Amino acid sequence: QGDVFTYDPGFTSTAACESAITFIDGDKGELLHRGYPIDQLAGKSHYLEVCYLLLYGELPTADQLEEFETTVTRHTMLHEQMQYFFRGFRRDAHPMAVMVGVVGAMAAFYHDSTDITDPWQREVASFRLIAKMPTIAAWAYKYSIGQPFVYPRNDLDYASNFLHMCFAVPAEEYKVDPILARAMDRIFTLHADHEQNASTSTVRLASSSGANPFACIAAGIACLWGPAHGGANQAALETLKEIGSVDRIPEYIERAKDKNDPFRLMGFGHRVYKNFDPRATVMKQSADEVLDLLGIEDNPILQVAKELEKQATADQYFIDRKLFPNVDFYSGIILEAMGFPTSMFTPIFALARTVGWISQWKEQISDPALKIGRPRQLYTGAAKRDYVDIENR
Ligand code: SDX
Repeated sequence: QGDVFTYDPGFTSTAACESAITFIDGDKGELLHRGYPIDQLAGKSHYLEVCYLLLYGELPTADQLEEFETTVTRHTMLHEQMQYFFRGFRRDAHPMAVMVGVVGAMAAFYHDSTDITDPWQREVASFRLIAKMPTIAAWAYKYSIGQPFVYPRNDLDYASNFLHMCFAVPAEEYKVDPILARAMDRIFTLHADHEQNASTSTVRLASSSGANPFACIAAGIACLWGPAHGGANQAALETLKEIGSVDRIPEYIERAKDKNDPFRLMGFGHRVYKNFDPRATVMKQSADEVLDLLGIEDNPILQVAKELEKQATADQYFIDRKLFPNVDFYSGIILEAMGFPTSMFTPIFALARTVGWISQWKEQISDPALKIGRPRQLYTGAAKRDYVDIENR
């Protein structure tokens, strides 16, 4: 029932879906979650409060927030037998492969019901996924580096718990730095939801058939992994390292413009934003804060990123195509400074986006006129013709 619009190659289609969760104005560079601007949420709220807002449509009262946070905290442990799924992977498996597998396996663990009318399934599946994703991502990381799994703790907030599960070892005390935890929480908030992006559309399409919610989220994780989507944060940092120094920026800007050169400035451009991605602006501020805290404010890669942004956004090719830094351009610099390997960048994106996927899944299955998603196609193949026997071919 969405707006009808026309686009190349000149045929009309209808909008994918109607949604009341997130609004993006790509020309203005505006992002609203249930009407609240992302820069205000990132500056004044925190991730679990944004989760409540996305799930239920309103900011919680103090009592509602306390109940929500307590419920999430008390669902952070994984069933002990789930560890077998981690141990079944090769030790050097990419953590995204592990997350796809483990979250998909939750469909067999927590319930294999596909009864999407079951309110229990909606609520508990929602809590379970939001609560357990930090544990799953942290354990995927621990498994990849051969360290023992660290269990969640109920005395830590959501972001601190994740950092503790990633960086603590049984051999010694690990104190989470509250400023790093605040930066981690803000990164989660900046990635929470983003309208009908590729992975969210994947989740909605899967949920339209009434598929199990854990299976739908596993499909979203698989889609997010791609370098043009959630994998861009890993690719963007690798691009900045390939450039390596400020004096090589002009050469790489020319390469990005050369159609015969496969090189792209990863972390630049967006399907919708034709202005600055508001998340990139907040992420850039966080990069300065975190690196100052860690005493690496003159980080050469951050200097390359800032100079690259300055030169690229002043270049006519980028101006004409309205190419600006997106959410992935600065995030990798912060995550690496916090101690994460590049292989953990997209799992952290998936962890944070789970609430967006769940919110959109709930909206999709709550639609009484639920129809299975079936995108139309424009057929460009052969016209109707008769079969030719092999001896006549
Ligand atoms: C995310 O949708 C979402 O909301 C996703 C996301 C979310 O939160 O879920 O925001 C997260 O995925 C952010 C995007 C991360 N991806 C990257 O940073 C990869 C690099 N960016 C490009 O691959 C590209 O910009 C896309 C895929 C992001 C957007 O592609 P579009 O809108 O289809 O634009 P396009 O590829 O058609 O490019 C238009 C023009 C082309 O040149 P012309 O053919 O017009 O001459 O701009 C050029 C492109 O060649 N271009 C680039 C470029 N991005 C686009 N040239 C050099 N470097 C780039 N990064």
